[in-house]
Amino acid sequence: MESAIEVKDLAKNYGEITAVDHISFEVRKGEIFGFLGPNGAGKTTTIRILTGVIRPDSGTATIMGYNVLKEPLKAKQIISVVPEMANAYIDLTAWQNLMLIGELYGVPKKERQETARHLLKEFGLYERRNHLVRGFSKGMKQKLILCMALMTEPQVLFLDEPTSGLDVESARLIRDTIRRYNEDGTTVFLSTHNMQEANKLCDRIAIINYGKIATVDSPENLRMESSSLKSVEVSFNKPVLANELSKILNVTETKKIGDKIRLYTNKPHNVINSLMDYTRSKSLMIVSLNTLAPTLEDVFIKLTKEHGKD
Ligand SMILES: Nc1ncnc2c1ncn2[C@@H]1O[C@H](COP(=O)(O)OP(=O)(O)OP(=O)(O)O)[C@@H](O)[C@H]1O
Ligand SMILES: [Mg+2]
Repeated sequence: MESAIEVKDLAKNYGEITAVDHISFEVRKGEIFGFLGPNGAGKTTTIRILTGVIRPDSGTATIMGYNVLKEPLKAKQIISVVPEMANAYIDLTAWQNLMLIGELYGVPKKERQETARHLLKEFGLYERRNHLVRGFSKGMKQKLILCMALMTEPQVLFLDEPTSGLDVESARLIRDTIRRYNEDGTTVFLSTHNMQEANKLCDRIAIINYGKIATVDSPENLRMESSSLKSVEVSFNKPVLANELSKILNVTETKKIGDKIRLYTNKPHNVINSLMDYTRSKSLMIVSLNTLAPTLEDVFIKLTKEHGKD
């Protein structure tokens, strides 16, 4: 058995809303697998199904061979979760929260205390260990939740947007921790809407939107696939037809967006040079000029088209 997670045809509706639309994928043992998608894509719903919080309408999922619907306890024993919503007890201290989790998972007292001390120090929370979580900032709570998830040594670690709302340094600390646990053998399943984060961390990324998976690939391959989605956005002091600019070399598509014209290209620098020439030859002036990276939506639309889904 080489897969850590196997998902087949998983679906979940909330009334009229399709949160997860018959998805299938596999996470290999030892990899950091990213679930990348915009708000409302179905990331949290998928994680909730996989971690046994909610039941799917149809489909199956296994974690390390355990069916999450038929053997939920066995599956839960080998995973840890950092959920979207903080779930530390606010009327307990940081220390008490960690002791409680350790006890629940049957970690011996001495080990429990050692691990907690180590984690709290690592995340800069040790000084505040005896303070009630009620008074913790959002970022401090988020770090404590990660500490709680790491009180056991999970075989599979689920993290739902673990760095959202954190400052740069805290986000980096969390990414470093994720990498280190992964190097020690933990398989990581992580959701994010941040492409850079997925690029930095993940071995493979599934792109999800509207409950569907567009593709699963390495960050490098995804970057290559989406490179033609770069664009240059320009506006002039006088009206110019988008059509006119589509003749510029290396421009694959043009779009009028308000008073700006967007030129899609995989060679933004060449296009900018050509635009300069064009401007001079027509005695125009450039009012604004921007190079844009592809958005998640752009990549998703391109990929879904290419992969023949609707
Ligand atoms: N308990 C619920 N009741 C009704 N609709 C829900 C519920 N949970 C999720 N949904 C809907 O399912 C869809 C997917 O939601 P989900 O929370 O899985 O998205 P997400 O990818 O995690 O988004 P975000 O990045 O905003 O966290 C959304 O349209 C959402 O409104
Ligand atoms: Mg979510």
